[in-house]
Amino acid sequence: MVTDLDVLNVQFALPEQLRFAAGLGDLPTVQVTNDHATATIVLQGGHVLAFQPRDTDPVLFVSQESHYTPGKSIRGGIPICWPWFGPHPTDSTQPQHGFVRVAPWSVRGTSATADGATQLRLGLTDSEATLAHWPHPFDLELEITVGHTLTVELIARNTGSETFTCTGALHSYFNVGDVTAIAVEGLDGLAYIDKLDQGQRHVQHGPVTISAETDRIYLDTPPRCTIIDPQLQRRIHLSSAGSRSTVVWNPWIEKAQSMADFADDEYPGMVCVETANAGDDVITVAPGGEHRLRVTIEVERDASA
Ligand code: BG6
Repeated sequence: MVTDLDVLNVQFALPEQLRFAAGLGDLPTVQVTNDHATATIVLQGGHVLAFQPRDTDPVLFVSQESHYTPGKSIRGGIPICWPWFGPHPTDSTQPQHGFVRVAPWSVRGTSATADGATQLRLGLTDSEATLAHWPHPFDLELEITVGHTLTVELIARNTGSETFTCTGALHSYFNVGDVTAIAVEGLDGLAYIDKLDQGQRHVQHGPVTISAETDRIYLDTPPRCTIIDPQLQRRIHLSSAGSRSTVVWNPWIEKAQSMADFADDEYPGMVCVETANAGDDVITVAPGGEHRLRVTIEVERDASA
């Protein structure tokens, strides 16, 4: 019997670099292995599940309790939040973080670059299912480049005849040695919306450190920030484009206990630092226009981190 995976492999596999296989929960995945790194991408949600450059610890955190079920978001990796970040602005019956993180994306292309990296292009367009959530025609493209760095670019095109606005995020979960020992640099002096303080605005002083539940949208953020991780002796640099907001999230103890897809004791081993369009950073896309939201994640080994 010829399966959908066989068809994808015939059309898009790259010898010794990229193939399609059934992943956890039988969700179709893309497995990438090249001279620089390994990566796994789940077609549902266009979700990067794993990225590991050679000779490093896994870069992304994924909960051991995550669901791998059609229609349910994976707890970890890089969920794509779009066309809204967080709760829907006016309708509480709508799913948190939009609908594309659980939608089935299609494969548009694969290629090997001259420097040995591997590229995957996925796509999603409006359908009856998406129009039930959001009344706008759109074309989304996700370009994922796996090399010694990982680049994820979300291109949102307006294929309709009316302007739309959107928010969103590349909701990256990072694997850290001990969240209480890390520092996130690059956000000093910036205002942030504290979701745990009724959306009040505060100003960040110094690097961000975490010693309690944290859920913040940093505003007017520059295109680079860094997670310094002394336990894993590395720095993770995030370089972004098309984003002026950065979300920092750790659920800490009680929230971890309340999440069915997250183990009670996992919160010290992760932090979300998300390349976002959130808070004041609302994007307007005119008919025929597009918005590109991009992050490049680079790991630097640093014994003195
Ligand atoms: C973060 C939000 O981006 O995602 C948090 O700021 C939220 O408020 C977290 O709790 C996880 O969201 P979800 O929908 O994946 O449980």
